[in-house]
Amino acid sequence: ADQPIDSPAGRSRANSKSKSRSSSANGRLSADDFEFGDILGEGSYSTVIHGTHRATRQEYAIKVLDKGHLKRNNKLQTALAEKNTLVRLGSGHPGIVRLHWAFQDDWSLYFVLDLARNGELQSRISRMGSLSTACARYYTAQLVDALDYMHLRGVIHRDLKPENLLLDDDFRIKVTDFGTGKLIDVPPERATKTFVGTAQYVSPELLEANETSKSSDLWALGCVLYQMIAGRFAFQGLSEYLTWQKIKQLDYTFPEGFDPEAADLVRRLLVRDPLERLGAGLAGSDYSMEELRAHPFFATIHWDTLWDDPAPPLE
Ligand code: ADE
Repeated sequence: ADQPIDSPAGRSRANSKSKSRSSSANGRLSADDFEFGDILGEGSYSTVIHGTHRATRQEYAIKVLDKGHLKRNNKLQTALAEKNTLVRLGSGHPGIVRLHWAFQDDWSLYFVLDLARNGELQSRISRMGSLSTACARYYTAQLVDALDYMHLRGVIHRDLKPENLLLDDDFRIKVTDFGTGKLIDVPPERATKTFVGTAQYVSPELLEANETSKSSDLWALGCVLYQMIAGRFAFQGLSEYLTWQKIKQLDYTFPEGFDPEAADLVRRLLVRDPLERLGAGLAGSDYSMEELRAHPFFATIHWDTLWDDPAPPLE
């Protein structure tokens, strides 16, 4: 079914067949209100394009999803879920890409998002080979803070990886791509059953029981921390299947020189039992991330000024 996509503010009940070509006609935005520039990224169902709002000259990243393509692949609900997730996350966290507006025309859905000018963390890691421990600490701390925020609002990301961690003007993290996000009731927490994600970051419980919970994001956090410092995946086989075998067997080793405190944190995150991961806490506990924040690896992090402190130099 054709799903209407309302603006996050819910300003109007969108008629999915309406083709608003002018914002002044009915007060709603349309693609005509933006100048489209470079392509910033491409996914299976979407293209992210640099957009400048004509009236204010404000720049954004506009995610454009092709409705025909979505419909043919039964993905309209997924797109709607992504929008709902972004709306639920609102504008309350500096580490999460904000949805400013959503609108549609006959062909496409448009999500107008924060522009993260410094691209994907993945490109940084690739370019530098690996990140300094100080950098990895800073980004991991920001990721913990962003995860805490989204988990408290009942959002599980389910596809955390350096490609989905963008860097803004000040090289701070912005989590993006909630296309595989899951909304859960808050509280209580229940494991949900759907296979999504990327091979190298998939948790054992997803592979074995096809279940995800907030704790699956903690597994991915461990994989991302490992990768930032080691410059390679924690789990990588010659095929997806062999990668999954390694994950299930917890088959990974630290390269020489890997910061011992970071290694300790990785070991406490890459734990097979989701409830035993650092930060998982007791089911329903709102303060579970505190034990993660209290880990010695974060001893030098000032959590209250985390989003104002400058990023360590990229070395
Ligand atoms: N690529 C994908 N999403 C983006 C965003 N929000 N900002 C910059 N580049 C992106």
